[in-house]
Amino acid sequence: MKTIKIGIIGGGLMGKEAASAFGRWFALNDFPAQVALTAVCDLNEKVLDWYTALPTVTLVTTDYKELLQSDLDVVYVALPHNLHKDFYLEVLAAGKDLLAEKPFGIDLEAALAIKEAGEKSGRFVRCSSEMPFLPGPQRVIQEVRSGRLGKIIEIKAGFLHSSDLDPNKPINWKRQSQFCGEIGVMGDLGMHALHVPLRLGWKPKAVYAYLQKIIEQRPDGKGGMADCDTWNNATLNTQVDIDGATVPMLLEMKRLSPGETNTWYIEVYGTEGGVKYSTKDTKALWTFARGEEQFWQRTDLGFKGVPFPTITGGIFEPGFADCFMQMLAGYIAEREGFLNGRFGCVTPEEAVASQYAFDAALRSHKNSSVEPITYS
Ligand SMILES: NC(=O)c1ccc[n+]([C@@H]2O[C@H](COP(=O)([O-])OP(=O)(O)OC[C@H]3O[C@@H](n4cnc5c(N)ncnc54)[C@H](O)[C@@H]3O)[C@@H](O)[C@H]2O)c1
Repeated sequence: MKTIKIGIIGGGLMGKEAASAFGRWFALNDFPAQVALTAVCDLNEKVLDWYTALPTVTLVTTDYKELLQSDLDVVYVALPHNLHKDFYLEVLAAGKDLLAEKPFGIDLEAALAIKEAGEKSGRFVRCSSEMPFLPGPQRVIQEVRSGRLGKIIEIKAGFLHSSDLDPNKPINWKRQSQFCGEIGVMGDLGMHALHVPLRLGWKPKAVYAYLQKIIEQRPDGKGGMADCDTWNNATLNTQVDIDGATVPMLLEMKRLSPGETNTWYIEVYGTEGGVKYSTKDTKALWTFARGEEQFWQRTDLGFKGVPFPTITGGIFEPGFADCFMQMLAGYIAEREGFLNGRFGCVTPEEAVASQYAFDAALRSHKNSSVEPITYS
């Protein structure tokens, strides 16, 4: 069986998550390709130490050029947003396929340049967003596509965190515009919120955005304070065209959402039915039926329904590590030509579309206006 050699640039939080998924690839049932994480680059030696224990890794380096010169098929890049464009372009120039991290560049201009470089290079490029690979979101997509919902009335989708509520949490690159981007929390959480809507063809045509900077200074970790100048919370009231009607779609991306750890949700309401899913209650799929009485029905989902079956029992509940692995399986399956209609990773077109929406949201908030989103 073919083995695809993988490299990682940026071995932090997400680099390790990817390594862990590649390391238990055998959990996928009858998956027709093997993977081997062979090379890792990070500037931090301590981070690299962690990777030296992994049996497939033969190169750990602080020099990304050394990694790119090695025999690799795919490079997963998990770096701060200010580095996305340069590193993604170098990966493509080195003739490797790219699994990018969101937001696919620090801003719209960078995202467009990455998409163009991907097209020119002919390499396979996709962007990370794992939550929709859980069985719940997959069922939401099926419900919508079934037509059972009738005429769509409204859509709500979001991604909510709360760890930033602690004002003593030290600053890091994710809270500073120069590294994270002016789009702030939209760059962190926005692609996740938009992945399913965009895949369903719901491309916002206008946005009214409310952006908040709530905690504006944080400990700098050296005894002083540092400016925390990114948007903490973003509420985007958007409009989408569905079957000739304009439908409101609310998108929430929040780093300060009391009580929420990593809550991804989507709700779709129609005249005949509805469907709701939230990772807050990982197993629960809610579907609405309208008859003489109206009711929301809960279905407990298990592992069954992930796009790429694994050895895990059908009634066992999935989590973050599972959907991340499913996403990587989706990347490899699509690259190898056996996705066969299953859910695939965010495309460069979708990543760029999200950046158009965030760019318009910045203008909307600044001008207190409803901004059209033109995608060109
Ligand atoms: N898909 C998801 O759910 C998810 C979750 C969190 C973060 N992310 C995204 O992943 C990316 C990385 O985020 P993270 O949370 O892993 O960050 P992180 O800070 O934990 O890790 C980044 C790593 O990059 C290394 N690094 C920095 N500059 C480098 C350079 N020039 N060369 C090599 N290594 C360098 C750092 O030492 C660090 O180990 C971002 O794009 C972020 O938005 C995605």
